[in-house]
Amino acid sequence: MKALVERSGDVYRVSINGPEPVVKFDFTPSEQLSESALDILGITFEEKGQRLIFTKKLGLEEHIFGLGEKAYELDRKRTSTTMWNTDSYGYGWGRDPLYVSIPFFISLERGKATGFFINSPAKLTFDFGVKEYDKVSVEIPHPDAEVYVFTGGTVEKIVEDYTSLTGKPLDPPLWAFGYQASRYSYFPQERVLEIAKKHFDEGINLAAIHLDIDYMDKYKIFTWGPSFKDPKAMIDELHRMGVKVVTIVDHGVKAEQGYDVFVSGLGHYCELEDGGIYLDKMWPGTCAYPDFFNEECRKWWGDLIKKWASQGVDGIWLDMNEPSTLTPEHDFRGPVVHRLDDGRRLPHELVRNAYPYYEAMATYDALKEVHDKPFVLSRAGYAGIQKYAMIWTGDNPSTEEAVSLQMSLVLSLSLSGIPFAGCDLGGFAGRSSPSLVLKYYRAALFFPLYRNHKEKSGNDQEPFNLYYEEEIKEAIALRERFLPYIYSLAREAHQTGHPIVRPLLYEFQDDPKTYGIFDEYMVGSALLYAPQIYGTSRKAYIPKGKWANLWSCEIEEGARWIDTAEDYPLFIRENALIPMEGELRAFGRGSAVLYDGSVVNYDGSRWKAPKEFTKAIAYADGKCQETTLQ
Ligand code: GLC
Repeated sequence: MKALVERSGDVYRVSINGPEPVVKFDFTPSEQLSESALDILGITFEEKGQRLIFTKKLGLEEHIFGLGEKAYELDRKRTSTTMWNTDSYGYGWGRDPLYVSIPFFISLERGKATGFFINSPAKLTFDFGVKEYDKVSVEIPHPDAEVYVFTGGTVEKIVEDYTSLTGKPLDPPLWAFGYQASRYSYFPQERVLEIAKKHFDEGINLAAIHLDIDYMDKYKIFTWGPSFKDPKAMIDELHRMGVKVVTIVDHGVKAEQGYDVFVSGLGHYCELEDGGIYLDKMWPGTCAYPDFFNEECRKWWGDLIKKWASQGVDGIWLDMNEPSTLTPEHDFRGPVVHRLDDGRRLPHELVRNAYPYYEAMATYDALKEVHDKPFVLSRAGYAGIQKYAMIWTGDNPSTEEAVSLQMSLVLSLSLSGIPFAGCDLGGFAGRSSPSLVLKYYRAALFFPLYRNHKEKSGNDQEPFNLYYEEEIKEAIALRERFLPYIYSLAREAHQTGHPIVRPLLYEFQDDPKTYGIFDEYMVGSALLYAPQIYGTSRKAYIPKGKWANLWSCEIEEGARWIDTAEDYPLFIRENALIPMEGELRAFGRGSAVLYDGSVVNYDGSRWKAPKEFTKAIAYADGKCQETTLQ
């Protein structure tokens, strides 16, 4: 076995047996180390036939985080999990794998964090102390591997270094953080307009509406069906209302003579070993699948996206891109091979998880030529997907247990370099009671993507179709008040990789009590939120330090558990400032960088803020003092 260890700052790259990764990331080593560096990093590799086994010890007080979208508690200790992007309709706790594969994890042991990234889109299996109580092992189904170790020590530094390597998150347009409505499917076009208008009539500011597969002509991508007679007029009308239009685009291209998209793609589809086109079922019937691993294919796809978007379509929603088929297996079947840019032809099993990565790359790059800030929403992903797309967690169920699971998923994506994520509010699969929908809206209050979406056979769960309408509208309105803070955090996320919603352990890694908590979260470093998702009251953990209750102005001292019965338990950290719609709130001194780069601050007696802020609240000694600005 040949091992090459190189280093740049706190990041080590270990190359076993001369790997040629399927997804290449830029890394410029400043020094080369001897093989004994593996001992210092505490990792070993063993060859087993055509496979490699990575191992490291698992300490008694060691805990594991990351790995993107996994239906477990945030702490992955005592789980085994596979990386294999999978269509997972209606998944609940423990279903593995799901749609996104991020082979990157963070070990946290007695306050010290170390990150590990196995750069392979093949079917990796991770075991964290299940097979062997005191070991982490990763089975790699090929004889070479590129592995990165991040030794920065803090969770934040590791997320920074990981996103420096795999790419900083995209810079979504601001409307992406507004409230979005979706349904499988809104049609015909008159109904789309009616639904959008209804939101405004009911006092809800709708930022975007999503068109699911029924807008198409027999599900043929890049077409409009007969119930959209004048899509241009519809788009213009939506734009006049201030609503952006997002259309779903699946990966399957109907294999049909005379369908121009299919014909223009010949030469760019996934092949079988014998060179024939791989055909299998998707929404429109028999389909061919673009081979996004190949640059020529991405160019062809990019041209289609550009043409499509230039009709006024504002965003692209990439679905089924694990890649899935509508077959009992859900996966590609048969000996599919992919043509990489470097000329290699590799079997699907070795590259699968990167399919959505290259699809999102092609889509984002093309959309960038039409819109300054592209909006791409993807269901599946691989390490680095954060450069090109926001992620939603797929077909989540409308069940009570799913609400905290969604929090675990989105917080974990946050720790895995993907700050822009969210879930279908209310749940996609099944029928939802109004109280469940409210819990979803509350749990996700600060999730970067805030979109209601429902399957065909589900009940109507737009806020105005539910008898908890007022409460849900209150949630949407409250989120809106926090948008300036969310925008400022989006800027930070884009520049640094720091997530918007953060598990408590991200900010308080010295406190092991935070390691198990995922039903509350930090919003940036300044705000703590313990959503009311169980009933009318709950216990909330207040980490060390002083916190001001946003509503009552009382000061809470951590580290301890408190009982809270507020609808929105929110606490401002000491010496922090939160920009809200038209107002600033600070506990002690504080400052914040706004989305446009300007700085607002409070030095304990004076406020400094641009004109759009007319009100300021200072929290001190259990009281709030309100000041009118300008
Ligand atoms: C998949 C998607 C879902 C979408 C449906 C129809 O199930 O996850 O969001 O509504 O396909 O396109």
